[in-house]
Amino acid sequence: MFPHDIATDRLLLRVPVPEDAQRIFGSYTQDPKVARYLTWRPAKTLADSERHIHDRILAWRSGNICAWSVVETERGIVIGMIELRIKGEAADVGYVIARAEWGKGYATEALKAVIEDGFVHPEIARLVAVCDVENAASARVMEKAGMVQEGILPRHMLAPNISDEPRDVFSYSITRS
Ligand SMILES: CC(C)(COP(=O)(O)OP(=O)(O)OC[C@H]1O[C@@H](n2cnc3c(N)ncnc32)[C@H](O)[C@@H]1OP(=O)(O)O)[C@@H](O)C(=O)NCCC(=O)NCCS
Repeated sequence: MFPHDIATDRLLLRVPVPEDAQRIFGSYTQDPKVARYLTWRPAKTLADSERHIHDRILAWRSGNICAWSVVETERGIVIGMIELRIKGEAADVGYVIARAEWGKGYATEALKAVIEDGFVHPEIARLVAVCDVENAASARVMEKAGMVQEGILPRHMLAPNISDEPRDVFSYSITRS
């Protein structure tokens, strides 16, 4: 996929820029509650977030990984990140929202937009996402975005902020209608 932005009612999902490192460092990458169920550890320094953003800017060049900074349009602030990773005819999605912005429907709005955008591409037939079995907020986001729970994948994902052992996840999907 070529780098492109996506606008929704309240959000702009835009290709990250280097300056986003400072923004996400200030708003969520240091927050252990945000990182709890994720595969990365909380950032300790700005350099950690610079790497995080750098990797996501570069990822677009692969053509298979699309990462968008989630900007709340009215205030013009970066509130999170959402990623689509294309693997053949399937793609998986991951997302994060700063804690101060939880519960306002932003993750659902961003996820719906990325699902719609993904299915514009004829090669993508199925979108999947997983979340830790204890991550009820994320499971709810997927359900609200129209994804269907397919089951539990045992010992599927490392969440290093919880344990050194791989953890069970719920697997969700949505297929092209
Ligand atoms: C998961 C996350 C992205 C949700 O973002 P958000 O913008 O708050 O999501 P939304 O507001 O769109 O929806 C959240 C839903 O979860 C519900 N929810 C929140 N905490 C919950 C909990 N502990 N148990 C059950 N439901 C919960 C909310 O009530 C809401 O559902 P509702 O609209 O039916 O009331 C956010 O909490 C986050 O970034 N968490 C850390 C990173 C993460 O876990 N990412 C997902 C990795 S799989």
